[in-house]
Amino acid sequence: MRLKCIECSEHFEVKPLYKCPNCNGILDVVYDVKNEKLRDLTSSNDLKQTFIFHDHKTDNLLGEGNTPIVSLSKTARRVHTGNLYAKCEFLNPSGSFKDRPVAAGIKKALEFGYEKIIVASSGNGAASVSAFAARFGLDCIILVPESTPDEKVKQAHFYGGKVIKVKGPYSNSFNLALRLSEVSPYYNLTTTFINPYTIEGDKGVAYEAHFQLNQWPDYVVVPIGAGPLLVGTFKGFKELKELFDLDCPLPRMIGVQATGCSPIAEAFKLGLEYVSEEENPQTIAGGIGDGLLGYSEDGTYTLDIIRESGGLCIDVSDGELLAAQSELAKEEGMFVEPSAATSLAGWRKAFKGKDMTETSSLLLMTGHGLKDMKSIDQTNEIIPCILPNVDDLIRLIQK
Ligand SMILES: Cc1ncc(COP(=O)(O)O)c(C=O)c1O
Ligand SMILES: [Zn+2]
Repeated sequence: MRLKCIECSEHFEVKPLYKCPNCNGILDVVYDVKNEKLRDLTSSNDLKQTFIFHDHKTDNLLGEGNTPIVSLSKTARRVHTGNLYAKCEFLNPSGSFKDRPVAAGIKKALEFGYEKIIVASSGNGAASVSAFAARFGLDCIILVPESTPDEKVKQAHFYGGKVIKVKGPYSNSFNLALRLSEVSPYYNLTTTFINPYTIEGDKGVAYEAHFQLNQWPDYVVVPIGAGPLLVGTFKGFKELKELFDLDCPLPRMIGVQATGCSPIAEAFKLGLEYVSEEENPQTIAGGIGDGLLGYSEDGTYTLDIIRESGGLCIDVSDGELLAAQSELAKEEGMFVEPSAATSLAGWRKAFKGKDMTETSSLLLMTGHGLKDMKSIDQTNEIIPCILPNVDDLIRLIQK
């Protein structure tokens, strides 16, 4: 196992590096898959021990992963499609998919001997890092944008991490965390293309889906900020293909952004080679509101992976994503946060008017609805309150 720069292809040994020392490119963890083939890899947990935690014995640190895949059968019937599956990432221990990349990063922090960690996050990574830091007795600093929902801030704080709000968009928190980790002994666990080991955790989604579904989905739909979850999931499928000599096509990756912060979707739409920064992110979906200020190359990397997979990137309005969030709750009993509901909203927009009856899609449901209660569409319904009197109750339900 080594680190490889995605720009200049230089290799480095496994150590606490964030970017390529030669060219500042993103670092990717690469394996000698041929050698690993000699091992018995018969479950997703075997794969995680080898290709996420790298010790041939650990497959989770806090009960993360092994999330269910649920068929969205009512929605599928209504929109006339083949199989529509949801991977319930919001059922991870801290309520979001971020527990996967954070677990992988924490494992490396412990191996490298760090006692202090820092993370920049739009809220879900914050709660996750604080939880893992509590479990492993690490000192942790958590930087979140001022606008982060209270639920995520309080959750991160309650696990005991030192939560600090940073004025301005998520990019300010990102750049500040990077700066501190450059000048002090804080290991940076920011999961968006800073810490190369965190993406390895995201691969677990693909490993599990491989064993959960009879057939790989044609499409995997992912809400994206910078896009490490999309990149990691695709990497997982590629590894599976190579390891098991599979001849099925790789899934096409669909990235979904909110219209008010959609630098990657914009570049895809215009057929551009590079992603540009979004200076003023404006969306209710704060989890994916990453304007990539100062690191737009991260978005370009995600754009390249989307194109490599034959997929697409699309944006959805706040109205569209809130409608999808409401549909998921009311039709499927699935309560996810607005950012997560973009996967359904994006799927619908991407394939509107197309015959999808012979296809199957896996939508990643990335964060729990309880994490952002202010944003949910309350549609002004008033919840009644009555005296404990059965006549009143009957009168009310007959209304
Ligand atoms: C709920 C939710 N979904 C999706 C994402 C996008 O994740 P990324 O682009 O970091 O993979 C985030 C990021 O924090 C999130 O909070
Ligand atoms: Zn390089």
